[in-house]
Amino acid sequence: MEISIKNICCIGAGYVGGPTMAIIAERCPHIQVEVVDINEERIRDWNQEDFEKLPIYEPGLAEIVKKCRGKNLHFSNLVKEKIEEADMVFISVNTPTKKKGLGAGKASDLKWVEACARQVAKYSKEHTIVVEKSTLPVRTAEVIKSILNETKGTLVDTNIKKTFDVLSNPEFLSEGSAVKDLLQPDRVLIGGESKDAIQALNEIYLNWVPSEKILTTNVWSSELAKLTANAFLAQRISSINSISALCEETGADVREVARAIGSDSRIGEKFLNSGPGFGGSCFKKDILNLVYLSEHFGLPEVANLWNSVVTLNTWHQKRLATLITKKLFGTLSNKIIVILGFAFKANTNDTRESAAIKICKDLLDEGAILKIHDPKVSAMQIEKELNLSPYKSNESGKENFKEGSWNKIEDMKNIFNNADAVVILTEWEQYKNMNWIEISNKMRRPSWAFDVRSIVDPKEIINSGINFWRIGDGSQN
Ligand code: NAD
Ligand code: UGA
Repeated sequence: MEISIKNICCIGAGYVGGPTMAIIAERCPHIQVEVVDINEERIRDWNQEDFEKLPIYEPGLAEIVKKCRGKNLHFSNLVKEKIEEADMVFISVNTPTKKKGLGAGKASDLKWVEACARQVAKYSKEHTIVVEKSTLPVRTAEVIKSILNETKGTLVDTNIKKTFDVLSNPEFLSEGSAVKDLLQPDRVLIGGESKDAIQALNEIYLNWVPSEKILTTNVWSSELAKLTANAFLAQRISSINSISALCEETGADVREVARAIGSDSRIGEKFLNSGPGFGGSCFKKDILNLVYLSEHFGLPEVANLWNSVVTLNTWHQKRLATLITKKLFGTLSNKIIVILGFAFKANTNDTRESAAIKICKDLLDEGAILKIHDPKVSAMQIEKELNLSPYKSNESGKENFKEGSWNKIEDMKNIFNNADAVVILTEWEQYKNMNWIEISNKMRRPSWAFDVRSIVDPKEIINSGINFWRIGDGSQN
């Protein structure tokens, strides 16, 4: 039986739900797309008059929201009403690592997903296709199905029975390039049993995705493929970061090594940039989830392999903070360090699991005074992540800092005054071509620049008289 989708409800207006639904609305003007969330502030921000102030920054997203919002794209807190109207419900809620109880520290916390399944079971009418968009442990669809099945067949006011299909449709977008990734995905993955339900979701994607890029699998392969994709990507970063440490000891250069191995078509050139360690809301939690599943299924060797990817990442971030301290004569007490970039990567305002958090905390513990700049991350967000209030200026406007304190500085002209070191942690475009002679003249000698993202020209810094260190560059020792 052909199912035609007219009304979509997406539960969760976050980094996945917001952009994904904006693209569906733009590409499918014949479908009404309702994004609902329990977080009132987030919904208020999605409905902001000023499109610059949407809750999520993604290049190109504001324009699409502007085009569709109020037409076939709506944001609200009306969870019950919008589930009632929907033929298809996407679950796009957060699935962080469990903080306590069984599997704490590794397993995904599925309480938000379970709450969604219960809401759908309660409020849906007639036939509803439930789509897992969140990243979930393999076999979660079983949990969702068993909750839905409890109400399956229940007669609603209209005397029409409730029925459900469950599909897995994991999202592979990267933050900072979400719009591009959604418009031109490498693949769309749909896992499910019901041919009709798969076809209904397929029809939506076919509005802009070529059919050969839409893969269908069973539900479990789809759920596991998402975790595996993130684990493989993160593994590449830990691998190249481990080699960067070896380069620094041996005189090799990690960029040269990456280019040499990346030219092998079996390895490929992407995702070989050594940096401050992977951040973002998903890599760590998804790998830990894989570790938990492997342990649960009695496969400790598999668990150990994937756990080492996370262990290496944590070690690498610590290594960088220690290295900066050592270069600055082993003490940071009252030294001013400029931190360029706090987001976990460029082109996003997201700071979840950003390497900058751990590195800044370690530098603060050593007594440093941090002046932090980021074009998209607010001071309030940095305060939340560092769990420390910024220092204040006194009445005459003079900065009132003491050791182990920080502030966010907007003004790039004055941020370098009297600084002992500059550390580039996020690869924002604007940090790539700065005037290092001017910067050098403002800094205290001996001054240092640490390029953890390999984005500046070493010659320019060295010529300016600043001591220079960059990731995985063995020629410096
Ligand atoms: P997020 O925290 O930005 O957004 C989740 C939203 O769901 C929040 O606004 C929260 O208030 C809302 N929510 C939670 N429970 C709810 C309920 N019962 N009813 C209504 N709203 C509810 O999370 P995110 O980054 O969008 O990630 C969502 C999922 O997608 C996760 O499983 C994640 O692993 C996966 N994912 C994320 C990315 C990414 O780049 N962030 C990419 C691919 C997949
Ligand atoms: C990642 C995946 O790339 C997406 O496919 C996936 O959908 C998403 O996780 C998810 O499930 O949440 P994202 O975390 O947004 O996307 O960003 P990435 O571009 O993967 O970067 C992750 C981290 O690795 C960043 O801190 C980045 O700076 C770092 N990285 C990336 C490197 O250090 N080197 C690289 O070569 C690439």
